[in-house]
Amino acid sequence: MSRPVLIAPSLLAADFSRLGEEVRAIDAAGADWLHLDIMDGHFVPNISFGPSVVKALRKHSAMSFDVHLMIAPADPFLAAFAEAGADRISLHPEAGPHLHRSLQTIRALGKSPGVVLNPGTPVSSIEHVMDLVDLILVMTVNPGFGGQSFIHSQLPKIATLRKMIEATGRDIHLQIDGGVTAKTAPLCIEAGADVLVAGTAVFGAPDYAKAMRDIRGAGGASE
Ligand code: DX5
Ligand code: ZN
Repeated sequence: MSRPVLIAPSLLAADFSRLGEEVRAIDAAGADWLHLDIMDGHFVPNISFGPSVVKALRKHSAMSFDVHLMIAPADPFLAAFAEAGADRISLHPEAGPHLHRSLQTIRALGKSPGVVLNPGTPVSSIEHVMDLVDLILVMTVNPGFGGQSFIHSQLPKIATLRKMIEATGRDIHLQIDGGVTAKTAPLCIEAGADVLVAGTAVFGAPDYAKAMRDIRGAGGASE
């Protein structure tokens, strides 16, 4: 696998009473992007945080802010997240009736658009928006909570998407989110992923730098 693997720690697993500190610590430990999970208690059965928290954290790091919207509708909030300092904004096709328009809106706001596939969502749902996205995120858990087990049935979907991306000739990131550990990361990379989101496996570890090295595979997986 010659493709460099990027790690995007999910802030959902950080200590919420010390968010600024946690962001600085994960940046210093070598994280590539910061993954920010936005949940509305409606599209997913949990509530996390909104644009004001993203804005407050922006001054703590220059890392790419990778905002994963698990909200419906998403359209009314795209500008707020862009203004808060998101660099990338990804949404689910099920979040509204006009996926194409939502992705165009994110681009028009000067941000990098991404689309997210739930475990039960087919790859065909994004076939006609491949020209608009910079990132495709494959959920390997059902969204809503950190610390769930990796759903192995998604591996063939990752491989299919890698082929679809190659067919476009465009440089589209293939990101995986949910249950990523030093054990499951190699499976994702082998299937064609190049960006790995990890919450519990990074923020739940005593040494953030080592945890990310283990996931990347550079330090040798410890378990
Ligand atoms: C789940 C979120 C994930 C989550 C991953 O809805 O999208 O980003 O934080 O957490 P882990 O890595 O613990 O599965
Ligand atoms: Zn996420």
